[in-house]
Amino acid sequence: MSVEVSPLEQLVNSVQDDVVRWRRHLHEHPELSFEEERTSQFVYDTLSSFGGLALSRPTKTSVVARLHGAHPGPVLALRADMDALPIQEENDFAFASKHPGKMHACGHDGHTAMLLGTAKILSGLADALHGEVRFIFQHAEELFPGGAQQLVDTGVMEGVDAVVGIHLWSPLEVGKIAIRSGPFMAAPDTFYITIHGRGGHAAQPQATVDPIVIAAQVVTNLQHIVSRNIDPLDPVVLSVTQFHAGTAHNIIPETVELNGTVRSFKPELRTEVPRRMEQIIRGITEAHGATYTFRYEQGYRPVVNDDALTEKVKRALVDVFGETAVVEGDPHMGGEDFSAYQSVVPGTFFNVGAGNVEKGIVYPHHHPKFTIDEDALPIGVKSFVAFVLKALGE
Ligand code: NI
Repeated sequence: MSVEVSPLEQLVNSVQDDVVRWRRHLHEHPELSFEEERTSQFVYDTLSSFGGLALSRPTKTSVVARLHGAHPGPVLALRADMDALPIQEENDFAFASKHPGKMHACGHDGHTAMLLGTAKILSGLADALHGEVRFIFQHAEELFPGGAQQLVDTGVMEGVDAVVGIHLWSPLEVGKIAIRSGPFMAAPDTFYITIHGRGGHAAQPQATVDPIVIAAQVVTNLQHIVSRNIDPLDPVVLSVTQFHAGTAHNIIPETVELNGTVRSFKPELRTEVPRRMEQIIRGITEAHGATYTFRYEQGYRPVVNDDALTEKVKRALVDVFGETAVVEGDPHMGGEDFSAYQSVVPGTFFNVGAGNVEKGIVYPHHHPKFTIDEDALPIGVKSFVAFVLKALGE
């Protein structure tokens, strides 16, 4: 049996005001990673009001809702992240953050609101669905080890056939959707180096082992890895972002601390790059009579989109938004723990444009003036609903 489904546009319009209102509420009350207590309670209560959803809280600050269609079929998971960032908001709109030093500066407030809107629409269409939709409201995307892996560990992906996630994206104009198969976002690894020299008086360098001069060579030589050792067709970033040393102009310090990040896509590079790094650090420190400690920590895995699923989602998006709105996504070196879901089931992650130059919505993600064009919210809802109806609507 199949039930008459009202046109998609009408469905999305019916929740549009709610979605904007939810997003603004969440924006006003940001919570940091692993601390999303009010946020998850708000999500739980809102989902409860729709009816027809089986709710659970796999971790303290996450919520999962299951919608069982009237007919058997595959299980689709849709994911939204809910956490904010430790940034002081510099926007002055009425619903700006009420919590000093905390801000939804990445659009996760919008992600949560869009997935709530999607759940509201689909919970009214259960009779027409062939399969299950699992709505995953994830905590802690911004802070390693991340909420996604914790949720996978609790079993939220059990029985799931495919997982889809959206990131609102301010560098992309509202109205555009960017999606691509294969590698989409990089693995963000971090490293911590300490160079141990021998401190002393700046006027008697011969009696010291100056760790600053040595560390400067380490920084310079680390740049050889990407430029000379890695295949130029494999994207890799190695950035030293912190160089800490010294207390006064006339003291050669004992130690220098160098920290930074490595971004890459290929799994083998995540062992090859640190191996080369340590060779360089060892060689330079040994040559100058210093010692070192080196710690390399793997972060999230790279986001690699499943070919077949991405093609399916893309077709659903083109059907709804047209060929010109759906563009090929550019891979970039940012990280995302959506990859944790993709390590267990086929997944695709894509960007919904949320920037608008004419409205002055031009700030990058994680900027104190970041915001989204709220016209992107119904586009995100429509994307989710269109795909679910295409995949489970028979
Ligand atoms: Ni984000």
